Amino acid sequence: MLGPTALGAVVASLVASMLLLQRGDEGSGAAPSMADKETLTKLREDFKMQNKSVFILGASGETGKVLLKEILGQNLFSKVTLIGRRKLTFEEEAYKNVNQEVVDFEKLDDYASAFQGHDVGFCCLGTTRGKAGAEGFVRVDRDYVLKSAELAKAGGCKHFNLLSSKGADKSSNFLYLQVKGEVEAKVEELKFDRFSVFRPGVLLCDRQESRPAEWLVRKFFSSLPESWAREHTVPVVTVVRAMLNNLVSPSSGQMELLENKAILHLGKDSDGPKL
Ligand SMILES: NC(=O)c1ccc[n+]([C@@H]2O[C@H](COP(=O)([O-])OP(=O)(O)OC[C@H]3O[C@@H](n4cnc5c(N)ncnc54)[C@H](OP(=O)(O)O)[C@@H]3O)[C@@H](O)[C@H]2O)c1
Ligand SMILES: *[C@@H]1O[C@H](CO)[C@@H](O)[C@H](O)[C@H]1NC(C)=O
Repeated sequence: MLGPTALGAVVASLVASMLLLQRGDEGSGAAPSMADKETLTKLREDFKMQNKSVFILGASGETGKVLLKEILGQNLFSKVTLIGRRKLTFEEEAYKNVNQEVVDFEKLDDYASAFQGHDVGFCCLGTTRGKAGAEGFVRVDRDYVLKSAELAKAGGCKHFNLLSSKGADKSSNFLYLQVKGEVEAKVEELKFDRFSVFRPGVLLCDRQESRPAEWLVRKFFSSLPESWAREHTVPVVTVVRAMLNNLVSPSSGQMELLENKAILHLGKDSDGPKL
């Protein structure tokens, strides 16, 4: 049963989806070319040899947890740190060396040390208007993300990876897209050596949490022709693989913008460890 609030959310999500659909992929930045399997394997090996350290924000989320699993599966880093508002528990052996920093995002300056000494950072933080209200959404998706990026930069991070959204545009009238565009632009101003922005369409995953609105949107998308789905949706695991294939590849510029199509292309490699 959908209550009035849920119903409102469903309608809002459908409207939002339609807005996203209207936007083309024009103006997207350079997409790195997909290396063949052999090259990719070699790139991964070279990357591992560098013994780099990584932090992940939002590792408890739908995307973050798949990212963490894949990072551990590929054994890409010699140190993995999760930064979050609560400590996570893991059963599997593979997670035993994962470090965790529990921070108060409202007083992030007090936790600057958590952000020190990581070569690479991934940000998969985010909430929704439905969960946190408009103000809460801006607080998390803009303020927490930007402050984290600032502390990471100050802490020596060279490569910052931001999970944004298709249609992100700082001059959009739509709060969600406006905030996503604004935070992209502000993080860009920090001038990381390398800044990679991922703009996926609707993420396809099995959410445990019930989100009727997203479920309906997903149903809606899966009823569309395949070619439409390719433009506007992407499995979470593909986003994660695109992030990691991009990570080990030479950068195509200080800032890299990967739209949905580029993500599908870069993340479709099937030789990675099976999840
Ligand atoms: N879903 C989509 O179709 C879609 C499409 C394009 C882009 N995106 C973007 O992709 C990003 C990740 O999405 P997702 O679906 O993987 O996210 P998700 O499952 O909702 O996870 C969100 C993460 O952010 C953390 N978080 C949320 N509110 C917080 C708060 N107040 N303080 C501290 N941490 C907080 C959560 O931590 P806790 O576990 O502690 O709550 C969790 O780790 C978001 O920015 C989203 O906007 C999503
Ligand atoms: C990385 O660690 C390995 C094993 O500890 C070591 O052999 C190698 O020299 C290290 N590489 C760098 C670049 O520090």
